Amino acid sequence: MAHLFNRNVVLGVSGGIAAYKSAELIRQLKELGADVRVIMTRGAQEFITPLTLQALSGHPVHTDLLDAEAELGMGHIELARWADLLLIAPATADLIARLAGGRADDLLTTVTLATAAHKLIAPAMNQQMWRDPATAANIATLQDRGMSLVGPASGEQACGDVGPGRMEQPVNIALAAAGLFASGALAGRRVMITAGPTREALDPVRYLSNHSSGKMGYALARAAVDAGAQVTLVSGPVQLPTPDHVTRVDVVSAADMLEACMARVDDCDLFIACAAVADYRPVRVAAQKIKKDAAGITLELERNADILATVSAHAQAPFTVGFAAETQEVERYARDKLERKHLDMIVANDVSDTAIGFNSDHNAVTVLWQSGSQALAQASKASIARELISLIAQRMEAADG
Ligand code: PMT
Repeated sequence: MAHLFNRNVVLGVSGGIAAYKSAELIRQLKELGADVRVIMTRGAQEFITPLTLQALSGHPVHTDLLDAEAELGMGHIELARWADLLLIAPATADLIARLAGGRADDLLTTVTLATAAHKLIAPAMNQQMWRDPATAANIATLQDRGMSLVGPASGEQACGDVGPGRMEQPVNIALAAAGLFASGALAGRRVMITAGPTREALDPVRYLSNHSSGKMGYALARAAVDAGAQVTLVSGPVQLPTPDHVTRVDVVSAADMLEACMARVDDCDLFIACAAVADYRPVRVAAQKIKKDAAGITLELERNADILATVSAHAQAPFTVGFAAETQEVERYARDKLERKHLDMIVANDVSDTAIGFNSDHNAVTVLWQSGSQALAQASKASIARELISLIAQRMEAADG
């Protein structure tokens, strides 16, 4: 089912009569689950007010490039980074020409240049303007650069002409936007992902744990669903909602997580171990709350089983991907784990940088496998997850021969 859950959409509205349809388009995008922020050109504001689109999107509308106050809120570069999709609807002939020329003379064209997000445009103009060779050449240029196109539709136009150039219906634009994220790269694959921390009890009220929020693992689960997989998420205690279409199995300790994974390993084709599993647990769990009578206490710890290594050693093991959270010599230690745990791939995560890794919304990783590696530059965890899933799908296909 098409959806845009957890997708950030920047909707660019340029100045054509179809701008009034952007109100309905925002509704459609939100109904599919997207968070929508709007940029309006000066021309767009002649057709519909920013206030209308602000009320519908639930966010202030961005209109000016050189607006000090707006830059203090979500500035243009932040907006460009926030977007998973830049959707321009309606895209007028003039805007299309300016985009083709690589201009950055207003907020919308600047954000278009500054974003690495998917780009989708819905042209809207008079049929003769659409047929003009200049427009056709500009559209071809944008498509060559990787922009996707939805519409235009054909029919009676506001100016009385009949022909191609009407903006596609909002519902179809929203569905085209959702379609950009559904890669099908893991269609038919059964995927198990571990996420979050584990808690190792000391007594009925205390435990040993770590700072994992589960964000990376949950983003992977979403990306795997979008890629067509059937996903089971074995999750330590986190404060995150279960992604749609994901089967979630809640666990607390490393021992619980091992048990949950081994009970399902025969039913999975791909195992991704993103959880920050406690390496050690207390030898004894006190039946009653430990009293603070003594000046100090000594905890005796014992090793937890390594879930990832146990899965990779399993007869008919799935394609196995581990993470390596390291604070120094990240790639060397990660490659060592790849070999030692007999993994197909490992994702090296430098957790010494507090801007990425544990609990952050961003990450930057290097993915290693036997014969190669690929660095994924800093981006949102949602974006890193999509890149990881696509890379993993490619390596799985290569392994299948
Ligand atoms: O949850 P977030 O806040 O979004 O943060 C994401 C993250 C930093 C937790 C994540 O990107 C990450 O790096 N996860 C791995 C954390 C970790 O425990 O790394 P490690 O190097 O200690 O373990 C190596 C691998 O073995 C990991 O895949 C781990 O899941 C697995 N492991 C470790 C110990 C154990 N007993 N069983 C395991 O399966």
